[in-house]
Amino acid sequence: MSDSKNIVLTGIRPTGALHIGHLVGALIANVEIQNQGDYARMYGMIADAQGLTDNFDNPDKVRENVMEVALDMLAVGYDPKKTTMFIQSEVAELTELTFYYMNLVTVARLQRNPTVKTEIAQKEKFNGGVPVGFFTYPISQAADITAFGANIVPVGQDQLPMIEQTAEIVNKFNNIYGETLVLPHAVVPKAQAAARLPGTDGNAKMSKSLNNCIYLKDSAEDIAAKVKTMFTDPNHLRVEDPGNTKDNPVFIYLSVFAKPEHFAAFLPEYANYEELAAHYERGGLGDVKVKKFLNSVLQETLEPIRARRESFVARPDDVMDILREGTKVARAAAAETVNHVKRAMKLNYFE
Ligand code: TRP
Repeated sequence: MSDSKNIVLTGIRPTGALHIGHLVGALIANVEIQNQGDYARMYGMIADAQGLTDNFDNPDKVRENVMEVALDMLAVGYDPKKTTMFIQSEVAELTELTFYYMNLVTVARLQRNPTVKTEIAQKEKFNGGVPVGFFTYPISQAADITAFGANIVPVGQDQLPMIEQTAEIVNKFNNIYGETLVLPHAVVPKAQAAARLPGTDGNAKMSKSLNNCIYLKDSAEDIAAKVKTMFTDPNHLRVEDPGNTKDNPVFIYLSVFAKPEHFAAFLPEYANYEELAAHYERGGLGDVKVKKFLNSVLQETLEPIRARRESFVARPDDVMDILREGTKVARAAAAETVNHVKRAMKLNYFE
């Protein structure tokens, strides 16, 4: 056991099955942090209540995806012995904290949150008005983080404004009511800054609604079919033509996933990604060959994840037990924080 005092919290919204974008953007890094063991406790939260803030009209979707996301987390190596996996909505203390923190945030400050701003602009369904629940989700995220005393929060770039806003809430709370809450620090995994995976169609974002994702649960046949029809360089018409690797999703995926071992096993004419990319840029390398290689690399990468996933799909009751046990532990920790918070706010009448 490590004597580290770190508390790590990761969170995922269960609004769709997880794909290879999540894998390189967050999951690999989270599992690495988990396995390095430099923490007193690590939490993996399934943020279903936050998922509802823009899916309140689709409870089935959120419910089904809690299980999907739990399976995906286990599949990539979240280990319930090391990471306390839990369901956000089952920790009622989080909503309680959110209500108190709401006093510490102005409407103008929420309106300035760049991530919320972008999300609101992107959502046609908010034309009828932005729900208060969605508008204030950064406050509930501050509750998620502070409830567990998390000082380390691994997140993607887009979540940095949330951590910043949480830090402001922590400082304001501690200033007014006395030192109570722990200041969080965002950790943006290295790989993540480099890799925001485009969709298979070349769209900048991999997203379920664009139907351009490779999911962790995709079968070997699904993967092969998706790779075969991937967007490449539209100007690379003949094999001899020079090709573009920069805006070419096939090459972007290879740059992230292809390791020297893969070259040795499947494409020994090249030692590494740089050699392959240089040949494509020069001309003389066809898309079919590169896609075949990408397929081999992805199959090799995703096969063990899919196998692990299948082993948990076969025992859904065990998965629910993992979440139930994790939620108990999480709830006890959050209840302790609520006690401190209420005492600090002089709301401890019956103590
Ligand atoms: N907002 C995060 C996302 O969309 C999910 C999340 C909810 C989260 N609560 C959190 C992340 C707390 C980190 C900490 O991916």
